[in-house]
Amino acid sequence: MDYSHLLQLDKEEMKRYGYQVIDAIVDHFDTQNEKKPVTQATREEMDTLLDAPVPEKGMAPSEVLDFVVDHVLPHSNIVTHPKSYSFVPGPSNYVSVMADTLATGFNIFSGGWVASPAAAELEIITMNWLLKLFKFPKKKGGGIFTSGGSMANLTALVTARRQRCGDDFSKAVIYMSDQAHSSNIKAIRVLGFKKEQVRIIPTDIEFKMAVNKLKNAIAKDRLEGLQPFCIIASAGTTNTGTVDPLQEIAAICKAEKLWFHVDGAYGGAAMLSKKGSGLLKGIEKADSLTIDPHKWMFQPYEMGCLLVRNHKWLSETFSEKPEYLRDIEGNTSEINFYDHGIQLTRRFRALKFYMSLKTFGLNAFKKAVSYNIDLTERVEGILRKSPHWEVVSPATLAVINFRYNPIKSSLTEKELDALNQEISERVVDSKEALLVTTVLNGQVVLRMCLINPRTTMDDVNETLELCERFAEEITTRSDMV
Ligand SMILES: Cc1ncc(COP(=O)(O)O)c(C=O)c1O
Repeated sequence: MDYSHLLQLDKEEMKRYGYQVIDAIVDHFDTQNEKKPVTQATREEMDTLLDAPVPEKGMAPSEVLDFVVDHVLPHSNIVTHPKSYSFVPGPSNYVSVMADTLATGFNIFSGGWVASPAAAELEIITMNWLLKLFKFPKKKGGGIFTSGGSMANLTALVTARRQRCGDDFSKAVIYMSDQAHSSNIKAIRVLGFKKEQVRIIPTDIEFKMAVNKLKNAIAKDRLEGLQPFCIIASAGTTNTGTVDPLQEIAAICKAEKLWFHVDGAYGGAAMLSKKGSGLLKGIEKADSLTIDPHKWMFQPYEMGCLLVRNHKWLSETFSEKPEYLRDIEGNTSEINFYDHGIQLTRRFRALKFYMSLKTFGLNAFKKAVSYNIDLTERVEGILRKSPHWEVVSPATLAVINFRYNPIKSSLTEKELDALNQEISERVVDSKEALLVTTVLNGQVVLRMCLINPRTTMDDVNETLELCERFAEEITTRSDMV
């Protein structure tokens, strides 16, 4: 029977199709470590492979699926790969992948309580787990799952502005360090602040926001009749994993009556480890906190999260009461998450967090995060013992930056930059590892972010050996000596 005009497959076909999909995913999980993490393709190559007009008539489901498995899915970097060190990897986990499949399969509308009480309840429960982890107020605190850290930062800043400035924000000023993530600047732009309303505070030698300079900037703005209203601190910068001096910034916010937003999208998850929670002291004082479970809490994309000290701040900022939603309003204890953020229709993100924590237990997550922090410290030890490598920023919350700079070399800074850039390019071109550069204090450095619990010391050693081999080839070339 042909059900295609209903956009349906028959039951047996659905099963066959589903098993094929699961087989492809399981096969990927099973073999990903043996694959190469990097893929490269030009627009032209992708056009040649994939570009086609919209088909008027359909084709056999398995044919489309086979094509996608063979020709679409392989053309992405494997961010779950143990040698995927760059940007912020996405280690993910299979249980959450299946949870996402269920949430999509049942197409659960996670906007209003009445439409899906269990989904809202699971979001409340998992949010409470997070509030406890980050030592936020148990009763008053609240939060919302978002698509990622960028949306959580945006949601935080909308809330901060609503609470502190009301409708007139023409004199409001926001402060963040020169290491703050670009999503904060994007959010500020989306919100319609002018460039002059943002102060980028320099960082000190350890890439931490320079508190004295922050205080000076606030004092100067007050003298000029402006309205300092929000400080964005980083709890784990993307570049170096550095945590801003959260306690001191919290004290400034208290004294100056400023909103304290902490961007913990990268490093917040380190709260799961002893070392990490030590470094993150003061995070519990934030008015709003971004964390990003699709990074170091091992969830597949997309899952960010915003926590706030007082859940009412969210409903006061985002509630709208259109007539077409009046029948699903519910009572006040029944949270409508569409009133806590920007999205009305939302996918059921809490499910994957819930199912993976229930399945593996919080201890497994704690062990994984502690392992990552320790592994990065061991990598630092190896680099420091080597005559070839220079550590540019030490292992901090599973990030380390280093460069090839042999002890007796006479290479200039410019040559070192070119050398390290080329090492990275060669590594990426070899597809053996995803290891790209960043720039710290004007120097080109190799950056490793080791948040994958499946990355081993052997993986790192192999990658360093590869880098050294390329470095020797490059430095023995005539234009480099
Ligand atoms: C510190 C920090 N904040 C925000 C973000 C943005 O998060 P997302 O990519 O999930 O939108 C990132 C991403 O790497 C980050 O490292």
